[in-house]
Amino acid sequence: MQLPTSLIKDELKIFEARFKDAVKSHTPMLDRIMRYVVKRKGKQLRPMFVFLAARLCGTVNDSTYRAASLVEILHTATLVHDDVVDDSLERRGFFSVYALWKNKVSVLVGDYLLAKGLLLSLDHNDYEILHILSTAVRKMSEGELLQMEKSRSLNLNEDIYFEIIRNKTSSLLASACAAGAWSTSNDKKITEKMRLFGENIGTAFQIKDDLFDYSTNNVGKPTGNDIKEKKLTLPLIYTLNNIDKESRSKMIYIIKNENKKKEKVQFVINKVIEAGGITYAEEKMNFYKLEAMNILKEFPESEIRTGMEELVGYVTDRKY
Ligand code: IPE
Ligand code: IPE
Ligand code: MG
Ligand code: MG
Repeated sequence: MQLPTSLIKDELKIFEARFKDAVKSHTPMLDRIMRYVVKRKGKQLRPMFVFLAARLCGTVNDSTYRAASLVEILHTATLVHDDVVDDSLERRGFFSVYALWKNKVSVLVGDYLLAKGLLLSLDHNDYEILHILSTAVRKMSEGELLQMEKSRSLNLNEDIYFEIIRNKTSSLLASACAAGAWSTSNDKKITEKMRLFGENIGTAFQIKDDLFDYSTNNVGKPTGNDIKEKKLTLPLIYTLNNIDKESRSKMIYIIKNENKKKEKVQFVINKVIEAGGITYAEEKMNFYKLEAMNILKEFPESEIRTGMEELVGYVTDRKY
């Protein structure tokens, strides 16, 4: 599956330069870390959503570029913090900021990025875009905390799982699409349509990410981490709710008490595969993907719409 980057090649090139410029610092340690972050860039899916949504609704302008930078800055900040929270040493196929610089620096680096994002918008009076993105930041924190609370009590409720991922992940993709649309249309109705599109594809995105945890391939970050963190995701929630009582008790015991023992965790993983938990999660992912595709169909056919459809396809077919 290829990313539809050729369509927005020029935009992405300008974006990279602006992003780099937007995060640079005169403080030597911060500058070193920022250069590291820029170099170990990710897939940049969110800026792609910003540009495609923007072009679907009008002509890319300076505020579109700032929206793309803001989205990627906020995303980067949350990843730096997330690896502290999840005690995760690998990110984007290399050491996480947390692995190299530890807790204290990571917390401050995340805060620095948040402040840089705020200033980028405020310096240019991008109030509506800042409002759209601030909503996402609020929801991400709420989602992460809800997830933490529910991992303590071992959440088995699918509705709560969806509430968590809608907040922690879909919200940012929704805001990326809304901000892109707003930057070129200034139209509330179209912006809301793109927000809803982004929310659906964001949900599919996180289900895919949760499926990676069951993968044996190299996905650029640790796998098998969710069970260790007692984070119950869709494949496991489905399995626990649909398996015989005895297996269920055994699985729950392992998740609670033996989640650091490799062969025990493997037992849980095997049960999930046997019970069809992976297939079930894939079906749900495809449901949300289809919802997103149907919203796109409300836009007239165009090269950009096709590009957006390809990006949607990439989200669910990607290998990392
Ligand atoms: C990872 O997002 C964080 C989640 C919301 C699951 P991406 O997979 O888009 O991360 P990068 O930016 O490409 O590394
Ligand atoms: C990523 O969440 C951070 C947010 C969505 C806020 P996860 O912890 O589920 O993702 P990875 O697997 O570390 O990228
Ligand atoms: Mg996390
Ligand atoms: Mg994590």
